[in-house]
Amino acid sequence: MGNNRTQKVWILFLLSFLALVCSSRGGDMVVYWGQDEREGSLRETCNSGLYKIVNIAFLSAFGSGRKPEVNLAGHCDPASDGCKSLSKEIKGCQKRGIKVMLSIGGGNPGYSLSSPGDARRVADYIWNSFLGGKSAGSRPLGDAVLDGVDFDIEVGGGEGFYGALARRLFEHGKAGSRKVYLTAAPQCPFPDEHLKGALSTGLFDYVWVQFYNNEECEFESSNPGKFQRSWNTWVSSVKVSKIYVGVPASASPSTAGSGFVAPQILKTQVLPFVRNSSKHIYGGVMLWDRAADKQTGYSRNIKDSV
Ligand SMILES: *[C@@H]1O[C@H](CO)[C@@H](O)[C@H](O)[C@H]1NC(C)=O
Repeated sequence: MGNNRTQKVWILFLLSFLALVCSSRGGDMVVYWGQDEREGSLRETCNSGLYKIVNIAFLSAFGSGRKPEVNLAGHCDPASDGCKSLSKEIKGCQKRGIKVMLSIGGGNPGYSLSSPGDARRVADYIWNSFLGGKSAGSRPLGDAVLDGVDFDIEVGGGEGFYGALARRLFEHGKAGSRKVYLTAAPQCPFPDEHLKGALSTGLFDYVWVQFYNNEECEFESSNPGKFQRSWNTWVSSVKVSKIYVGVPASASPSTAGSGFVAPQILKTQVLPFVRNSSKHIYGGVMLWDRAADKQTGYSRNIKDSV
C-alpha cells in the first residue's frame, strides 16, 4: 500500500517535471490588454497562465500640452478614477511573475511630442503616475507600480523626441529602486519611422515587431523570404536583448487588416526560423490582442512551440 503510493507520487512528480521541460521552447508570449471589454478582466488574463508580459493599452493622449489620458475602452472610466481598482489586479499579475507594462500611443491620433522639454515632462508624468514616483494628483491605475513603458507609437508628431522620453524614463528607473523596462512595438518595415529615434538610444529591453498590416514584410507561405529578410534586418540592426514576432491572434479584419498566420503555419514555418536566430535574441511571440486571443485560443494552440 505505502510503496504503491510512493510510486504514484514519484510518477506524478516525473510527469510534472517532463511537462515543465517540454512545455515550451524557451520563448514567452506577450499580449495587449485594454482595448476591448469583451476580453475579460486583467486578472483573468494573467490567471490564464499564458502570458509572461501584459501591455496595458493605452496611454492614448499625451504631449504638446495635452492633458494625459488613459483609454481602456469599456473596462473602466479613468476620468472618474474608475480604473484605480486595477491596482489589485496588476499586483496579482506581478505576484505570478508577469510583467505589466503601460503601453503609450496606439493607432489613434491624440498624442505627440513638441520638444525635448515636452518629452521630459511626459516622462516625469508617467514616472509619477504609473511607476515608482509620487504623484501630486491621482494615479489613474492606483498605487500599483508598473514594470515599465511600452512604446506603440504609430501616429506622427515629434518622432525626434521619443529618444529623450526613453532616456528620461530610463534615468528615473536607474535613480529609483527598481528598473524601468522599456519595450517597443515597431511596424515591420525597417526602420520604423516613428520609433527609430527612440530605438537608437539602445535603452530598450524588448522589441515586438508588428508583422501585420504591412504586406511587404508579413509572413506568407508562398513567399517566406520577405518575412525572413525583415526579421534578419531587425535582428542585426537593433540593440535590444530580445525580439518577438508580433502577430494578430485572429483572422478577423477587426483585429488586423492583414498578416494573420494560422497557428499550424506559425508553428511549422515561422517559429523554427526565428528560434534559430543568432545571439539568443528570439524572445517569443507577441499577440494583438487579448480579446482576439480569448476568442480564438491562438496562444493556447501555439504555446508548446513558442
Ligand atoms: C538555422 O540556421 C542554420 C545556420 O545559419 C541554417 O543552416 C539552417 O537552415 C537554419 N534552420 C532553419 C529552420 O531556419
